Order: sequence, then C-alpha cells, then structure tokens
Amino acid sequence: RVLIVDFGSQVTQLIARRLRESGVFCEIHPYDKVEAMLADFAPKAVILSGGPASVHEAESPAVTRRVFELGVPVLGICYGEMTMCAELGGKVEGGHHREFGRAEIRIEKASPLLAGLGDVGDLETVWMSHGDKITAIPEGFEVVASSPGSPYAVIADEARRFYGIQFHPEVAHTPRGAQMLKNFTHGIAGLTGDWTMASFRQEMVAKIRDQVGDGKVICGLSGGVDSSVAAVLIHEAIGAQLTCVFVDTGLLRHNEAEQVVTLFRDHYNIPLIHVDAGDLFLGELAGVSDPEAKRKTIGRLFIEVFDKESAKIEGAAFLAQGTLYPDVIESVSTSGGPSAVIKSHHNVGGLPDYMKLKLVEPLRELFKDEVRALGVELGLAPAFVGRHPFPGPGLAIRIPGEITREKVAVLQQADAIYLDEIRKAGLYDKIWQAFAVLLPVKTVGVMGDARTYEDVLALRAVTSTDGMTADFFEFPWEVLGRCATRIINEVRGVNRVVYDVTSKPPGTIEWE
Ligand code: XMP
Repeated sequence: RVLIVDFGSQVTQLIARRLRESGVFCEIHPYDKVEAMLADFAPKAVILSGGPASVHEAESPAVTRRVFELGVPVLGICYGEMTMCAELGGKVEGGHHREFGRAEIRIEKASPLLAGLGDVGDLETVWMSHGDKITAIPEGFEVVASSPGSPYAVIADEARRFYGIQFHPEVAHTPRGAQMLKNFTHGIAGLTGDWTMASFRQEMVAKIRDQVGDGKVICGLSGGVDSSVAAVLIHEAIGAQLTCVFVDTGLLRHNEAEQVVTLFRDHYNIPLIHVDAGDLFLGELAGVSDPEAKRKTIGRLFIEVFDKESAKIEGAAFLAQGTLYPDVIESVSTSGGPSAVIKSHHNVGGLPDYMKLKLVEPLRELFKDEVRALGVELGLAPAFVGRHPFPGPGLAIRIPGEITREKVAVLQQADAIYLDEIRKAGLYDKIWQAFAVLLPVKTVGVMGDARTYEDVLALRAVTSTDGMTADFFEFPWEVLGRCATRIINEVRGVNRVVYDVTSKPPGTIEWE
C-alpha cells in the first residue's frame, strides 16, 4: 500500500482516487502525523501532496526525513516537490513567479515515470499550479521535463527512485496524469494493482467476524446507500447476529420506506425493526419553521427513537455505521481551525456515547463510488446503489417554513415525477443530486378557464464530486419543460415550477 502525505491541497483526495482506480490501496495522513505511524504502516511507496504553503515561510510544513530513508520510491507533487527539494539539499525561491492553469511541458529525458507517454522532445499537456520556484535541484536529480515557466516541471533521481512533479497529475486537466501515477505505483514501486472490490469484500467479511465474534450488532438503516451496503456486508459476515433498526421519519422520498423494508426483510432476510415514526416526527415538527430548529428536532427525535428500539435488542454490543473515508480523513485543510457552522448535520447513527456500543464501520476506508461498486459486488441493484445522496433530515429541509403531512405528500409526488423524467432523459447519472423544493409561496395561475392560486415548486439539480462545491446542472430546456408540465398537471396544489441556477458557494445544495 501507498502512503499519501497530505500538505493540505484541495485535491489530495483525488490522488487517492486515481491510485485506487488502478487497483492500489492507499491512505492519506497529515504531514505532521507521519512520523508516528510510519513503522506500523510500512508503505511500499510515498506520495507527497500539494499544499497552499510556501517553502519560504518560517514554519513551512515538512514531513519527517525518515520517509526518504525507507528505501521506497517517493513522488512529490507541486508543494510536495518543493519540500522534497528543500529537504534533500536543493534550492527553492519564494513566490514572485506564479503559474496556474494549462501548460505544455517538453520531455527532456526518458524516465519510467513517463513510460508510455511521448518521446524526448514531445509536448505533454498538464495542469500547473505553483507559487514557489526551484532554482537548484538536489544532488542525484536530473531534469526529465520542463516548460518555459517551470524548468523543473519533472525531476528524477532514478537511483534512489525519488521523483518530483510541479503540476497536478491527479486532476482531469492533466489528461495523462493517471498514467503517470500508475507508472509510479506499478512500474516504479512494483505494485500489482490487485486491490479489487471482490478482495475487499472477502477481507472485510473476515475482519468483521474477527471483531464481532459471537456478539450482537445493531445497524441503523436510513434507506440510503451507505447504511444499506454496510448492513448487507455485515449480514454476509455474521448472519442473524445482525439486527437492523429502520427509523422511518415519514420524510423519505416517495415509496422509499417500503422499498427498504421489502429489500431487507424479504430479499435479504435480514432481521429488521421498522419503526413507523412519521406521526411522531410530523407532530413534533408542527409549528417549527426555523431551519436549524428543524434539524435539531429531527436529530433529537431520531436518537430517542433509535435508542428506545435498540434497548429492546438484548445483549447488543456493537453498533454498525456506514461511515465513509471522506468523513474519516483528518485532512490538513479541514483540521486547520474552527469553521463556521452552516448547518448542523444529522446522520443515521449519530448516537450519544452513553450507549456504550462499540462501533463497526466496514466502509471507513472507502469513497462513495467504491461503496457503490461494493454494493453491486454484494448483489444490490445498480439503480439502488446509484441513487443520489439524500440528507438525514429528509424532505423536512426541502419544505421551507412549516411542515405538514399534506406538504410532504405533495413534495414526494413532485419529486418522484422530476426524478422519473430525469431518468427517462438518461441524465440521472450525469447529475450528482436532483430534488424538488416546495416553497411557502402561492402564485396566481390559470388552468382551463379558471383562476388558480397555488404553491410554487423549485427544481434543483447539481453536479459535484463531493458536495463541498457544486454547479447547477445545465438541463436541455425541453427536459425541464416536460418536468414542469407533468408536475403541474399531475400534482394537486402546484401551479408553477421554477429552476434554481445557484452554484455552491455562494448557495448551498439544500435550501435549508
Ligand atoms: P449542503 O446543503 O450543505 O449539502 O450544500 C451538501 C450535501 O450534504 C447533504 N446534507 C446532509 N446529509 N445529513 C446528511 O446526511 C444532513 O443533515 C445533511 N444536510 C445536507 C445534502 O443533501 C448534500 O448532498
């Protein structure tokens, strides 16, 4: 496996994704935590990520010198190249020359890092982003590729297998960047790329059995992809020692609660407690219109209900959660300081610690798309695991203002039509998340010959990679038109449909 040392680049996670796509397992760790974990981890190769710092700052971040003494290949990307140069005796100068964006580099010398790319003299398109400038490379290094702005675009010490790249091979804007990373992990470090979902499944089943023994496990099901995949995997490992608790808030998408119950109970034969708590949630939400108050009410009720139900399962010692890798990584960019609370997030399994259950988190090492692949590997339908993300507080945060049972029903119906049209147009998988929002606004319309005075529905669809930033999706007009026509014709109480063209930032994806 490969160690990725994080210096806080926005795209460090992409390095991990590219590696895993080529069948190589890797983990990301902050640069200042590497010293402590190096012995246990025993990496077969090390990659130093980019980052926002300058090697010239007084306290510029640097990784322990020991990574250069392991005898394994090291690849420094962007800031990683700068800090490697500085540590190994090269010279780096600060920020007067900055270079960002598309650039062409010229291959100066053959290297296994660029195997399968061009010959000497050929040009290669890359995505540059750097502020510092290398003025002298350490002893043993040679220039492999350069550009007018970056004489040291790619450098190599082939004997020690140390490589530096000034651009970002992990982003899509460097078309053959994935090949360069694969050259490093497969060609140079000799990894075979045998990390597949089938091997992960086997390994994880053994690990779960090992951790749980003959103990009982409770799993909170939300109906979403992550908790579903976790439950199926754990069930494969320990069978009837697993009980799932599905707190049905009454705020799920149309028909989704039924689907979950059928799938788990009838198809997988997994013991499932279905708590139909719609009345409780809607009752307590009556009169609540402040977004944070809604979120907190739902979070609190969820824990109360889950707590009560799981207390009935005698002798349970473990709690299963569908925690994913992006929630686990302690990244340099996110641990940097207090950040403003935009929304208090609520997720299934956010339980008080007095419950004293030990956690089983089989998806901790996976990215979302890997969880989907694992789901398919476990026999879940691709359409089921490919569903868009859905927030814990559900439709409650898609009904600005007060929530009523009637409004939830209207929104469920409109949302189902919207998603149906998106699927029919073949656009579902091109969109990261699409949903409808029922506005507390009435407008005048005319239907037949009569005046109407009914609600407005907003449609939202975004593209994103991780939900942190997002762009609104550019629909063909006729698809939006069809959605609007169908919704107004089929959903009682809606007489106008609008489309949200706000990106994130400055908007958020959800409206509340
Ligand atoms: P925002 O609205 O913050 O949403 O741009 C980013 C992503 O997170 C989802 N979301 C939530 N997911 N619990 C969740 O599990 C929550 O409380 C929650 N709030 C927002 C949202 O749907 C989007 O995918």
